[in-house]
Amino acid sequence: MTLYGVGLGPGEADLVTVRGKQVLEACDVVYSPGRLSRSVALEHVDESKIGDVDFPMTRDEEKLRSAWKEAAAEIAPNARDGDVAFVTLGDPNVYSTFGHLRRTIDAFHPDVELEIVPGVSAVTAFATAMGVEIEAGAGLSLREAANGASPTGPDRMILFKVTDAPATHDGLVDAGYEVTYGRRLFMEQGETIITDDPEEIDERDYYTLAYAEKEALEIEQATAAFQRQSGTEDETGLSSRTAESDTGSDESTRAETTTAGEPVGLGSELHELERSEGFEHGDCEQHWY
Ligand SMILES: C[S@@+](CC[C@H](N)C(=O)[O-])C[C@H]1O[C@@H](n2cnc3c(N)ncnc32)[C@H](O)[C@@H]1O
Repeated sequence: MTLYGVGLGPGEADLVTVRGKQVLEACDVVYSPGRLSRSVALEHVDESKIGDVDFPMTRDEEKLRSAWKEAAAEIAPNARDGDVAFVTLGDPNVYSTFGHLRRTIDAFHPDVELEIVPGVSAVTAFATAMGVEIEAGAGLSLREAANGASPTGPDRMILFKVTDAPATHDGLVDAGYEVTYGRRLFMEQGETIITDDPEEIDERDYYTLAYAEKEALEIEQATAAFQRQSGTEDETGLSSRTAESDTGSDESTRAETTTAGEPVGLGSELHELERSEGFEHGDCEQHWY
């Protein structure tokens, strides 16, 4: 049978994926490494299914290794006899406790089948929660900023473990970044805070991240023309989006929108290539073009 690593998403019970929920419901035991992941899991399974594993709050590697060995020894027999889940917040493969369990199981119980159910990671959830768009053509790096660290370099960074926001902020601002902080995003427990003032979140809370972007960074998108245009067109009461819904005809709408967007590079070779690749892979909404 199987040990499933199930990503629960950032902390709201209805952001668990459909597959994650199905797996949790089907498993005999659901192990959770912490209070928050446990409270999300409990929205989907009965308390009687929750398994006991203990993790000490220590950096002592010897103690940690022995705790993981104990956890693996508890979980492995149950994963041989039936299906069990180990839940983590976010995604099990992104800075997650599940990695420790997987390595320990691989080393000491290699016959146990493992499967991972991805979850909505804070790496992507932050963008929606904080109103940030990572546009096509932009890069995004993931870094850690524990204990006031201020990693620098990339144009755009998401920083995890922002435990001393004022100190991290100073370093980032000195290096020319604009920074926004997000605390407990999409999380049921505790207060969600989004701010660009580090003093507002100077109290340590592990579930804090930062989005840092080099000042005056801008990538011009083809569709930015629509915004400029709708500003002018609004005066006549006809924006391209309104025209789209008014005509009710997809074909005519597309023609109109395309014409409206042409001045900003639409129709260029690169854009055509990007568009056809997007269609091919199904991640490109035709009406945007
Ligand atoms: C060890 S990492 C775990 C990441 C998780 N596996 C994921 O995929 O989202 C923990 C860090 O992720 C960030 N984080 C995770 N969930 C968050 C949330 N709901 N709101 C804000 N930050 C969060 C915080 O920076 C926290 O210190």
